[in-house]
Amino acid sequence: MSGFYEDIVDAMNALHGAHPGFRAAHAKGTVVCGSFTPTPQAAGLSAAPHFQEEVPVTARLSNGSGDPEARDGDRRDGRGLAVKFELPDDGATDIVSVTLPVFFVKDAQSFLDFLHAREPDPETGEPDMEKLGAFLGEHPETAAAVQLILPALSPPTSFATARYNALHAFAFTNAEGETRYGRYSFIPEAGEELLPEEEIDSADRDYLEAEIRERLAAGPVAFRLEVQIAGEGDVLEDPTVAWPEERDVIPLGRLEITDVVENAETPESPLIFDPTNVTDGIECSDDPLLEARSKAYSVSIERRTAAA
Ligand code: HEM
Repeated sequence: MSGFYEDIVDAMNALHGAHPGFRAAHAKGTVVCGSFTPTPQAAGLSAAPHFQEEVPVTARLSNGSGDPEARDGDRRDGRGLAVKFELPDDGATDIVSVTLPVFFVKDAQSFLDFLHAREPDPETGEPDMEKLGAFLGEHPETAAAVQLILPALSPPTSFATARYNALHAFAFTNAEGETRYGRYSFIPEAGEELLPEEEIDSADRDYLEAEIRERLAAGPVAFRLEVQIAGEGDVLEDPTVAWPEERDVIPLGRLEITDVVENAETPESPLIFDPTNVTDGIECSDDPLLEARSKAYSVSIERRTAAA
């Protein structure tokens, strides 16, 4: 039976090809592991277990494309960092982030329509500018977001030199019962660095994967986890809109990645990162994309695990 979220995954497959056994998006990735150490300020924001004590993590660094053979140096792709914090009580909680500063759309129907608008003209194989233009005309929020996103699609020198943003707002409640809303980002300790323009075309197809393996063999890779706190009037349900830069930012901790995990998943035991997988002291905001993502991810997971 086909439904709305099946249609979304079908439309993703139409853009990137259907690749049995692979994720419909972020098909190509490297699984790594390490630890997360919270800052003293983290407990003041949220009572979440991993904001009180150090925990192990499993993470996945990926390209945005649904094509597992995509070039790492694609100029039109985002990169992803998904992190699973393994909690002391055996549960887990996830943060799923990308190198985009904002998201393209604010709801699932717009996402589906945007996927259709990006389907190339069947005759020329080129983007259908008429369809795209019509979509952008009806979605000024996407037209504005694209201006911010395009420069962020330039490939980094390394997965370790990119900033990753989780984009949606989440509600954080501390032990005193105080709640604040915020948006997460992972800031690379190695600094942000893009691949020089003249090296992009000649970069190896898999240079990001090769580089992160080499880098980890020489030592750990680290990111600071920060949260930007919503101010008066900031929109909580719409990831196409950036919040003002002067908003307070609270440092939450240090993610240290130490090793590549080989053969990290099998169809029987898939690795699943879900932005709605929160824990005590953290709740999803009313952003409708969060729930929609969870449902679309479930379709992709069902298909990729059934394909074996
Ligand atoms: C309606 C909006 C979106 C849809 C329909 C969507 C869809 C998907 C799907 C189907 C997958 C594959 C899931 C799997 O098989 O495990 C995926 C993976 C992923 N998505 Fe999204 N996505 C959306 C928005 C976003 C946003 C806003 C972000 C970042 C903030 C994001 C970041 C990622 C990442 C990093 C992965 C790879 C996770 C991993 O490594 O397992 N996506 N997405």
